Amino acid sequence: MAIERTLAILKPDCVRKNLIGEVIRRMQDAGFKVLALKMINLSKEEAGGFYAVHRERPFFGELVDFMSSGPCVPIVLEKENAVADFRTLIGATDPAEAEAGTIRHDFADNKGQNIVHGSDSVENGRLEANYYFPEVEIVNNAS
Ligand code: RTP
Ligand code: MG
Repeated sequence: MAIERTLAILKPDCVRKNLIGEVIRRMQDAGFKVLALKMINLSKEEAGGFYAVHRERPFFGELVDFMSSGPCVPIVLEKENAVADFRTLIGATDPAEAEAGTIRHDFADNKGQNIVHGSDSVENGRLEANYYFPEVEIVNNAS
């Protein structure tokens, strides 16, 4: 399997619940290396741009309001098979459908406010990492 990068975001509910450390702990315990991270407030425009693929969906306005409701923490992660393995670690979009032991099952309140984002393909992982971080801010010697 190939070494891949994926873009995680600790969403505003994760930050409000004081779960930043806990969720990063789980990522590192699962073998993900942290290549970049920061805490930022997204404007509605930035949140909408990031989730532009969902622009026509009924939940889009709610999603934009939520993602811009407080600070969040984008993180570039690297690991073998990172994209699929990270989706497994976080669980299904709706925490009610997520497997026990996954991050969303354990911490999320509902389908809209589900603690963490994960890229859904290697190509989107690259595009999404560059949405938040210029290449010079992504380290190449993480442990
Ligand atoms: P994400 O992109 O955040 O990792 O989530 P995902 O792939 O598991 O799910 P996706 O279909 O891409 O949806 C993006 C985010 O939109 C919100 N959502 N709300 N209320 C709803 O029915 C609904 N459906 C989706 C969630 O925050 C979801 O993570
Ligand atoms: Mg998605």
